[in-house]
Amino acid sequence: MVKLTREVAVAKFLFVTDLDNTLVGDDKALFELNHRLEQTRQEHGTKIVYATGRSPILYQELKDEKNLIEPDSLILAVGTEIYLDGTGAPDSEWSKKLSSGWNRDVVVSTTTQFSELIPQHDSEQRSFKVSFFLQEESAARVLPQLESELQKSGLDVKLIYSSGIDLDIVPLGSDKGQAVQFLGQKWKFVAEQTVVCGDSGNDIALFAVEAGRGIIVGNARPELLQWHNEHPANSRYLATNFCAGGILEGLQYFGFLE
Ligand code: GLC
Ligand code: MG
Repeated sequence: MVKLTREVAVAKFLFVTDLDNTLVGDDKALFELNHRLEQTRQEHGTKIVYATGRSPILYQELKDEKNLIEPDSLILAVGTEIYLDGTGAPDSEWSKKLSSGWNRDVVVSTTTQFSELIPQHDSEQRSFKVSFFLQEESAARVLPQLESELQKSGLDVKLIYSSGIDLDIVPLGSDKGQAVQFLGQKWKFVAEQTVVCGDSGNDIALFAVEAGRGIIVGNARPELLQWHNEHPANSRYLATNFCAGGILEGLQYFGFLE
């Protein structure tokens, strides 16, 4: 482990982080982390990727508000959109991959029979993502029923429930983890050179990628902690500090930062 740590420290890595309550949430620690990330990007060619459930509009709002540094790529709408080239258009190869087995209209019409599902704002309804608010008290009852109704319609979809309130319905072949693998292959990073950071349910897919390094911030939500306890892995670090402070702690633990 010590040897691996030293080797990684001098090399570039693929840094992937969720935004809300992971990168963002402690302004002072974020300032320090931004500085360290800019430095390693410049010195080693580290790639910085934000992976968030937010749409382009809500991402831009947060970026402006918190002065986030420019990423090398963006994974938005919980992994259903990848932005690589700065044109403002999502990567078409990725979109094409998600199209098979997906029918947005059928997803929407299937959900109308569930009165517990409250549609999120229009900006958060995306080509490959249908999003609702669902109260935690109803989730355990509604989610299996909804899943079985969607299956009956013959769709290849996945339900992602986060923070005891957000429900995203997306194509089976998409989530933050699969989007990161797509980028890793494109940029030729192996799993051991990849580190992902998160705090809630929609980050579980990030941590599920085998052999990738993971940092769970100290303020993580119960659904992520429960998954972590049920799927223990040495390649995952549970930080004590919150948000960017936890990320700094984890990057040092793995030897990505000195
Ligand atoms: C962000 C998105 C929302 C989504 C949630 C969880 O808050 O704006 O649409 O449901 O992340 O992925
Ligand atoms: Mg989060």
